[in-house]
Amino acid sequence: MKEYVLLTGASSGIGYEMANQLAAKKLNLILVARTETKLQQMQAELANKYGILVQYFVADLSDVHAAIGLYKAVQQENYLVTALINNAGIGNYGNFTETPLEEELSMIQLNISSLVVLTKLFAKDMVSRKSGRIMNVSSLLAFLPFPYYSVYSATKAFVMAFSETLAAELDGTGIIVTSLYPGTTDTGFTTDKMHSTNHYKSSKPMHPKMVAEQAVKHLLHGKGKKVVGFQNWFNSKLSSIVPDNIMMKIKKKLASQQ
Ligand SMILES: NC(=O)c1ccc[n+]([C@@H]2O[C@H](COP(=O)([O-])OP(=O)(O)OC[C@H]3O[C@@H](n4cnc5c(N)ncnc54)[C@H](OP(=O)(O)O)[C@@H]3O)[C@@H](O)[C@H]2O)c1
Repeated sequence: MKEYVLLTGASSGIGYEMANQLAAKKLNLILVARTETKLQQMQAELANKYGILVQYFVADLSDVHAAIGLYKAVQQENYLVTALINNAGIGNYGNFTETPLEEELSMIQLNISSLVVLTKLFAKDMVSRKSGRIMNVSSLLAFLPFPYYSVYSATKAFVMAFSETLAAELDGTGIIVTSLYPGTTDTGFTTDKMHSTNHYKSSKPMHPKMVAEQAVKHLLHGKGKKVVGFQNWFNSKLSSIVPDNIMMKIKKKLASQQ
């Protein structure tokens, strides 16, 4: 059986860069996203350039049944997943009473439900083999929930709590569960509305390549939580120093458009 790293959200942004860097380390890849043309192109490029095996699956993980289907398809092909990266995720921005509910329900399915499904199914196999690595991509907003990103912040706080507790449960079994906390990163994730917030205008987003470098290192060698970049790490500690009401006022101002 051939060994693979399975990466969701591989077709763009941080996932695309992680796929390239993992391929450069000669790791076989299973790429997952919705856009088949991009996955096809990546498959051809990475397999040719690095002489590795690259498979892909087209799946819309905002439907948990697609996550179950993905696991079954991987089993059917006899691919051995030794590492899982739950990276696919979406966010939205705006007044909670005005943003589309459908968008938020899809976000919860993708950022939380499918992540739990894939983790459960692949972790069970890893436990029986007594080895494996799982990395879940959360966000700095798990530490610092921002107004106008209420549902998104909550999904990422879920990922943090889930990853930390599961890591403790599986400690000593040979399965290592880690989580990654990028701050603002220059990818298609950020929308025009987000670009016009005070926070975005005053910050310098990280390049996804730099985030992916830290991510790959953390997946292969890390333990526990990894906040990407010193400034983000410092910001992640602020809520334990600054009182909640003051912190929330600052965050509301930062997330506002005026
Ligand atoms: N960019 C930031 O500022 C930032 C900050 C903190 C955390 N993050 C987190 O980092 C992760 C990667 O985000 P990114 O910035 O790289 O964003 P991105 O460039 O928009 O990439 C998102 C990836 O997820 C896939 N995806 C989206 N919806 C999907 C669905 N329903 N089913 C399956 N795949 C889906 C996309 O591919 P398709 O469209 O082809 O499906 C794409 O490959 C996310 O979990 C995000 O929350 C990002």
